[in-house]
Amino acid sequence: MLRTHTCGELTKKDIGKPVQLCGWVQSRRDHGGVIFIDLRDRYGLTQVVFDPQHNNEVHETAEHLGREWVLRVTGKVRARPAEMKNDKLPTGDIEVITDHLDILNQSAVPPLEIDDRKEASEDMRLKYRYLDLRRPKMQHNLFIRHTVAQATREYLSSQGFLEIETPMLVKSTPEGARDYVVPSRRHPGKFYALPQSPQLYKQICMVAGLDRYFQIARCLRDEDNRVDRQPEFTQIDIEMSFCTQEDIFVVGEGLMKHVFKKALAFDLTAPFPRIKYDDAMARYGSDKPDIRFGLELTNVSSIASRSDFSIFKQAIDKKGLIAALNAKKCAGFSRTEIEELTELAKTHHASGLAWMKVKDGKLDSSIVKYFSPAIQEELMKHLQAEEGDLLFFVADKPKIALGALGQVRLVLGEKLKLIPHEQFAFCWIVDFPLFEWNEEEHKWDAAHHPFTMPKEEHIPLIESNPEAVRAQCYDLVLNGVEICSGSIRINKSDIQEKVLSTAGLSLADLKEKFGFLIEAFQYGAPPHGGFAPGLDRLCSMMLGTKDIREVITFPKNKAAQGLMENSPSPLAQQQMRELHLKTDATHHGEKK
Ligand code: AMO
Repeated sequence: MLRTHTCGELTKKDIGKPVQLCGWVQSRRDHGGVIFIDLRDRYGLTQVVFDPQHNNEVHETAEHLGREWVLRVTGKVRARPAEMKNDKLPTGDIEVITDHLDILNQSAVPPLEIDDRKEASEDMRLKYRYLDLRRPKMQHNLFIRHTVAQATREYLSSQGFLEIETPMLVKSTPEGARDYVVPSRRHPGKFYALPQSPQLYKQICMVAGLDRYFQIARCLRDEDNRVDRQPEFTQIDIEMSFCTQEDIFVVGEGLMKHVFKKALAFDLTAPFPRIKYDDAMARYGSDKPDIRFGLELTNVSSIASRSDFSIFKQAIDKKGLIAALNAKKCAGFSRTEIEELTELAKTHHASGLAWMKVKDGKLDSSIVKYFSPAIQEELMKHLQAEEGDLLFFVADKPKIALGALGQVRLVLGEKLKLIPHEQFAFCWIVDFPLFEWNEEEHKWDAAHHPFTMPKEEHIPLIESNPEAVRAQCYDLVLNGVEICSGSIRINKSDIQEKVLSTAGLSLADLKEKFGFLIEAFQYGAPPHGGFAPGLDRLCSMMLGTKDIREVITFPKNKAAQGLMENSPSPLAQQQMRELHLKTDATHHGEKK
């Protein structure tokens, strides 16, 4: 190695030692003839001194050094003078007095500062990602990601799971998002798809008797990006045979406990709460509830529908409900504050947000005239409303009323500082509906995917009462973010056919779409199930951010472009010809 130590490890105990350090120039300060350089590498910063009294020649060279030049410094460790000590740095007690300097490379003036306190714009960070990644924060993030991946392998191997790779060039199958596709040179007009997840392959691994599978798998989905969504992302993909849902939870909890302990030295408490989908919606207005705080929703339909307020009555007539939220001690909210929350409810499809303040022991609002004193009393009692409280209401179809008020709850939680940000609150959401009603096509659709097993006791209801059927399907939620989802899969054709026919599909349809899986299932498919935590989401949440780009080395921007390498890009004519492709788009993306 060109160095004897890293830039993060020298301390008082090394004083007097001859050392060689390699790293980048973080900063250069000229103090009355003596030059100080902070030399940086992945491990930290060390102060390096060039003193003309000590060595005039190296001092002269040091005068020309610029930011991000790459150096090798040969010198001796010495104590810093008392007034120059820096308690914030592990190396803050020492410095290295330079005897010899090798300039390993120069650097152009960097277009962004390598400084956690000065974050550059999104575009600059992605274009010059290699400079952005030099920041200690990003290096730490990638270190944590590495530790999570290692701990995952360690834990799953200890539980008998085999790490198995599955193909990247796969058959295009409908899986929710759009596929990224790869044209075949050898088969003109045919395409591979890149996998949206290894779902079908991992199920086939169970048919193959591999019993316990895992893979840290790259997944590709052509969908709109969000802070927690990238076109390329990574799943900790898991499948196991001869298991119940509860067995899967035990593995999921064990994995999370091990990973948090290894990467953050944090002890999670398991088992995690299990919350039924219907309860999560009713209490939090979300199937990914942030359970770090209360402020739960209440269904006040039975009381509020008896008022003369037509909006409430109409909602009930249309099989909707009236959801309410008591914002404690918020009666002082200004009109603007209430309007902002109303806008928020509207962006989540509610037609409005009604409110009432508790003032002088009574309800106060422009709509209270529609509520008799007895109904007002009942409402206050039901919502445990006290002087100074502010009550919010949304009346609509259940999903909209609960969903919109759930969003108001989240914003209020932040605004009222109810959320303990240092906590990690996991929960499993269970008993999802197996089917969801497709309003446009007036038919039932499989809510998750068509291979999700219904709850045993609901199998007789599949055809007679699809709405009531709950699935053996679950999500793991952390602080209001879906970290993982999974299910017990259908492994028997009679159940499969019932589910498909209810969703308006035939076995022939399924064969056309997923033929190879159905074929494999004929040869003794064992009962099996699995789940897949998103590695990016997990790591970002562990680091206290929802933005997964902070834990992905080379993420795409919002328009799914790689700004550093400039992807996607046009192909050369020759390559297009070889792939039997013609495009009707110009190189600027517009159509001719
Ligand atoms: P699902 O599609 O719910 O399930 O994905 C599982 C988890 O993967 C993460 N995730 C994403 N992360 C970043 N960017 C994306 N675009 C993205 N999409 C999903 C989330 C999500 O919870 N095969 C099934 C799993 C199973 O049933 O075993 C699947 O892929 O954290």
